[in-house]
Amino acid sequence: MEPLKQENRVFNPPADFVKGAAIPGMDAYQKLCAEANQDYDGFWGRLAKENLYWKKPFTKVLDESKAPFYKWFEDGTTNASYNCLDRQVEAGLGAKTALIFEADDGTVTKVTYQELLERVCKMANAMRKMGIKSGDSVIIYMAMTIEGIVAMQACARIGAIHSVVFGGFSAQALRDRIMDVGAVAVITADGQFRGGKALPLKAICDEALSTGECPKVKHVIVSKRTGADIVMAAGRDVWMQEIMANEAATCEPEWVSAEHPLFILYTSGSTGKPKGVQHSTGGYLLWAILTMKWTFDIKPNDVFWCTADIGWVTGHSYITYGPLAVGATEIVFEGVPTYPNAGRFWDMIQKHKASIFYTAPTAIRSLIKASSNDQAVHPKSYDLSSLRLLGSVGEPINPEAWMWYYENVGNSNCPIADTFWQTETGGHMISPLPGATPMIPGSCTLPLPGIQAAIVDEAGVDVPNGQGGILVVKRPWPSMIRTIWGDPDRFVKSYFPEELGGTLYLAGDGAIRNKDTGYFTITGRIDDVLNVSGHRMGTMEIESCLVANPLVAEAAVVGRPDELTGEAICVFVVLKGGRPTGEDAKKIATELRNWVGKEIGPIAKPKDVRFGDNLPKTRSGKIMRRLLRVIAKGEEVTQDTSTLENPHILEQLKESV
Ligand code: WT7
Repeated sequence: MEPLKQENRVFNPPADFVKGAAIPGMDAYQKLCAEANQDYDGFWGRLAKENLYWKKPFTKVLDESKAPFYKWFEDGTTNASYNCLDRQVEAGLGAKTALIFEADDGTVTKVTYQELLERVCKMANAMRKMGIKSGDSVIIYMAMTIEGIVAMQACARIGAIHSVVFGGFSAQALRDRIMDVGAVAVITADGQFRGGKALPLKAICDEALSTGECPKVKHVIVSKRTGADIVMAAGRDVWMQEIMANEAATCEPEWVSAEHPLFILYTSGSTGKPKGVQHSTGGYLLWAILTMKWTFDIKPNDVFWCTADIGWVTGHSYITYGPLAVGATEIVFEGVPTYPNAGRFWDMIQKHKASIFYTAPTAIRSLIKASSNDQAVHPKSYDLSSLRLLGSVGEPINPEAWMWYYENVGNSNCPIADTFWQTETGGHMISPLPGATPMIPGSCTLPLPGIQAAIVDEAGVDVPNGQGGILVVKRPWPSMIRTIWGDPDRFVKSYFPEELGGTLYLAGDGAIRNKDTGYFTITGRIDDVLNVSGHRMGTMEIESCLVANPLVAEAAVVGRPDELTGEAICVFVVLKGGRPTGEDAKKIATELRNWVGKEIGPIAKPKDVRFGDNLPKTRSGKIMRRLLRVIAKGEEVTQDTSTLENPHILEQLKESV
């Protein structure tokens, strides 16, 4: 796919969509923006009152006295699980389907709001009985299952802070997170099904706990899923289904302050270990609800499907919390888009009559490829007429993929919400509103009402439209990150840096606004963070993993553009034993790939491995990463290499093994 240089096509929201939309037309959008500008506290206060159940109403909207540690609705009390479940049952939606769960093997299980509430209550009661209390942290290491959602909701119900670790992460990564968060319990499953294979979870969990570095973990709760042969440690491990069996189906929620941490989710930063992004209860849930209404225009009859995993923030906001908090019916999918074939998504949309479909550009690109020479798995071979809205998330969507998605999946009559946001932002920040914003492929268009996104230069000064710069948010918003768990200094330094004046939220992305429309286009990370298939990874994390391998003396990691995955990981390695060639090089490259896969997780496996006698360094010994990026792309080095101490190694590094 050749990228288009300049995108001029404009796609207006379909007229019948505008008619019934939550935000019908640009005037309605502007009106909300104006309301926020005129009275920021009043705007958010009104929305918080209208959209959330408060056990005790808040009296103050925003407390900026300890900025950037902002507090929202702090003296109000509420509960996320109550807002998601009890509220729906009380409104008469008990018999409505909450979850349509489709297993990897195609088995479908439907769960009503009443049933989901009961299961969550049973789990919450069982957890309380084990001594898990409000403010305790609990690691959830599970795959996409009903039980995964039940576990998260049960934590929220009793005020325990969950930290979900993606089921593809390694024992080491899991252990790091268990330790950092200080978990008192781990909820996992015997295993998980993906693409027709049963994969372990509990065994990895055992490995994580085996070093004795997690003495705080008193309980491991195991959901039975694959029937894998696992070891249950006496006194520590219990079956989730067994502990729930005899519990009452009602459970008084823990009424917590709106600022009570709902969850911590680890994400990669440019330096050091992953950051535990801490989110609040009230502000976070408010934004999950509002974005369900504004961006996804959710209606009572919609069948909503977000294909993300609960291990990522998208799965938190748009599977576990947002859709349930607005009483929607949603699809939860255990498997992968290519099993049993690359028509799986289209088959499921057809079967369950999905009306809103939210996925990642990397999935779209792989399905474009798969269907280009196999008509059977092409979206046009399915009845996708139930769709009315599409969404994209996780990375920039290139105009070619956008057009394909629009024409082939949306039949040229579904708006596409290209949602820009981050783990730290809790929910959408910049996105077209489907009933209002004219869309331009490749642009996430305009900030949501109340979100003060802007582009500044390196001194924090606004740049004019048409000039690229650094993406910032000028005012706090309810669902923003509250702190980095256990490291408030790092929170301030990472997100409110002195260089920008200390008050702007630094997203870490570059962006540019169109001269005429003011539309935002995200140009990619400006730090050492890579985005591979929508997964965020720190280059430093991979580098330290590589140098921990006994063969490796030195390593540098950069990203390079990749047609399918957006970015691909390219590593430059210096071995202790000298530069390998031929079969040797191939063998060691495979070994290193597997090493990274094992230490961090398969998603971090490098695509390219290159060996050199050394790395290109300046005379002061700094690795010239900019040069490495050029080499990784396969481009000719045109930059000045006069400061380079050892220019000959550039030739070596051009060879990919
Ligand atoms: C980074 C955040 C958003 C939740 C899932 C990923 C990139 C995300 C877009 C988009 C361009 C995007 C940014 C951002 N990103 N959405 N629509 N257009 N870039 O959350 O793992 O915290 O990653 O993903 O670079 O900073 P995350």
